[in-house]
Amino acid sequence: MLGARGGWRALRRCASLPRAVRLRVREALGAREPAEAVRVQGWVRSVRSQKEVLFLHINDGSSLESLQVVADPSLEKRDLTYGSAVEVQGKLVKSPHKMQNMELQAETIHVVGPCDIWSFPLKMKERHPLEYVRQFPHLRCRNNTLGALLRIRSEATASIHSFFQDNGYVHIHTPIITSNDCEGAGELFQIETSREAKESVEKSHFFNVPAFLTVSGQLHLEVMAGAFTHVFTFGPTFRAENSQSRRHLAEFYMVEAELSFTESLQDIMQVMEDLFKTVTSTVLSKCPRDVELFHKYVAPAQKDRLEQILKHKFMIISYSEAVEILKQAPQTFTFKPEWGCDLQTEHEKYLVKHCGEVPVFVVNYPYDLKPFYMRDNEDGPQHTVAAVDLLVPGVGELCGGSLREERLPFLESRLQRLGLTDAYQWYLDLRKFGSVPHGGFGMGFERYLQYILGVDNIKDVIPFPRFSHSCLL
Ligand code: 4AD
Ligand code: MG
Repeated sequence: MLGARGGWRALRRCASLPRAVRLRVREALGAREPAEAVRVQGWVRSVRSQKEVLFLHINDGSSLESLQVVADPSLEKRDLTYGSAVEVQGKLVKSPHKMQNMELQAETIHVVGPCDIWSFPLKMKERHPLEYVRQFPHLRCRNNTLGALLRIRSEATASIHSFFQDNGYVHIHTPIITSNDCEGAGELFQIETSREAKESVEKSHFFNVPAFLTVSGQLHLEVMAGAFTHVFTFGPTFRAENSQSRRHLAEFYMVEAELSFTESLQDIMQVMEDLFKTVTSTVLSKCPRDVELFHKYVAPAQKDRLEQILKHKFMIISYSEAVEILKQAPQTFTFKPEWGCDLQTEHEKYLVKHCGEVPVFVVNYPYDLKPFYMRDNEDGPQHTVAAVDLLVPGVGELCGGSLREERLPFLESRLQRLGLTDAYQWYLDLRKFGSVPHGGFGMGFERYLQYILGVDNIKDVIPFPRFSHSCLL
């Protein structure tokens, strides 16, 4: 049991300290056998002092469950309070309680960092609502719900990387500062030096050209797909959108993939669906207790819905079918559904409900609605491009993707009409030198977490509720 890797590594690092092996709470809870001398460090989640015994619960973020410490009341100190940081040394023994495997019989308790419980905003044994802990961005990670969320987020991140690596994709770090406006929707943050910002006279750009925070790594991925065939990126993305909504952030993480030698939208949708299902199954099996907390207290019934979704194929409808469904809806919408108009949140919600509250791919959008890089379907009279959005219950659009226009003449004439030929010479080059049919997609990572965990507000699935607080933590 003492083979727990973290513990031995720590022991080697501090050879001069007592020989007690340092264990993470998770390791201590999962130990198969008792151990004579162990050390556990963490923060006190509860203190219960009885006449003959002192009970503590210690959590170090390695698991949702805390480790029970049983001590002689003589070890109690004034500063051993809820929230304080402690190091406990003692014997790891089998717990007599059914609910836990092991407990720590303390021989020494050292308060490393006291905590003023009167001013500490998190209170012992209280189930604080997410809205309450949102007020304390620097402390909320010590709350059970946010702790569980951040462990799930970490596991999902690792699983996304594994999914692509296991399927032969090369990971690319696409730039964060760029001069591309990939989506062309005018939702860019422009960057300038603080000196430039102060100067009101004619500005000289630091990079000689206007530079922005990336809205998507797609165009850079397309470059790389022209050499590595299958590539992905997973990084911060910035949009100057209304960050007050429940599903928009100014800074979020996007997973993007690009596949060369791909002629059908079906192939792109298959990767989206496989990614979703693989990552979700991994998170469900690797973080069962953390996920359970959400499915019990935040979104009851979400577990059963997810399990059903993992078993079935996602639905596919065309944009034209979607508009017909909306037109025949027995309800009136604020935005009247019309072929050629964007699907609004209310429309997305209705479509998902109409399809039985399951994920739905909507394919083949109007040519005039979508960015220049999407592949022309050459159809008519309703002219469309090979675009796909994945809509999911409660969240709306989770993924957006398309086949890319790989044919030089089509792309040239589209860019010319938009007056973008000069800016995108390099992109046109990609169509001159070994162009192949290709396509890709992007998935909003926070929206993904929101969906699988049933979290209503997107600000509750990020480590720091950025820009929603007076200080930009
Ligand atoms: O649909 P979008 O705009 O697609 C692209 O950027 C493509 N260039 C991606 C690609 O094909 N490589 O964004 C992709 C996803 C959306 O479906 C949504 O889930 C998420 O990114 N997203 C946001 N998430 C949080 N806050 C925002 N402001 C978001 N904007 C987009
Ligand atoms: Mg989109």
